[in-house]
Amino acid sequence: MKTETIVLLSSREIEKMRKAGRLAAKLLQHLESMIKPGISTLEIDEEAERWTQAHGAKSAPLGYKGYPRSICTSVNEVVCHGIPSAKQILKEGDIINIDVTPIVDGYHGDTSKTFFVGTPSPTAKKLVEVTEECLRRGIAEVKPGARIGDIGAAIQEYAESQGFSVVRNFVGHGIHRVFHTAPEIPHYGRRGTGKKLRPGMVFTIEPMINEGTWEVEMLDDGWTAVTRDRKLSAQFEHTVAVTEDGVEILTLP
Ligand code: MF3
Ligand code: CO
Ligand code: CO
Repeated sequence: MKTETIVLLSSREIEKMRKAGRLAAKLLQHLESMIKPGISTLEIDEEAERWTQAHGAKSAPLGYKGYPRSICTSVNEVVCHGIPSAKQILKEGDIINIDVTPIVDGYHGDTSKTFFVGTPSPTAKKLVEVTEECLRRGIAEVKPGARIGDIGAAIQEYAESQGFSVVRNFVGHGIHRVFHTAPEIPHYGRRGTGKKLRPGMVFTIEPMINEGTWEVEMLDDGWTAVTRDRKLSAQFEHTVAVTEDGVEILTLP
């Protein structure tokens, strides 16, 4: 449980978050163009690092709590924090989440999407579409006076209505000059519970939705989280700000 206080950002700080968020979204677009059967996840990581530096930014994940690479690449049963590797070659039918977080002028832009490698199976296609809709529904709950629990409730109701499950072990997070801070944003929960949202709060919503069980296991590398039943998992993430009358998505290109 995070005990930091929730920081309210000034309009000047939100503008910096917008710049970081825009670069993050553009980086993700750029990396999407590399996805095809035969490429390794390390090649995508190396291009992410090169592109980020060329745009005058830094990769927040690199060296974060000892994380060894610049982005996370989570393929198929990997729930999150997959480490790019030369040995991991994308193949037809895979799904891959790419999660990027550049730092621009001290502020973090955190966003991820799940992409298809070639043509997906019907199940993979449905899971990825439902997960993107979960993020959209979570974001739609954000406005002053709403509660953090409203976000998770909207996500959980939709995911479970489609026969999928919501990961509990990882949550969205406050983000600004600090990568991960208060508040925590669970992707499950009950309406009307949790802290009230206020203008100036900035956080991520990043639902991880599983085909089978919501339970995860950690691999021996200490980072990679996989589904316990090794069925598929998908994720989408945006960084959002609570505005005077609703929500602004900061990680749009
Ligand atoms: N970007 C991830 C998130 O959404 C965090 C990655 S931290 C790392 O919060 F160390 F694993 F890279
Ligand atoms: Co992220
Ligand atoms: Co995040």
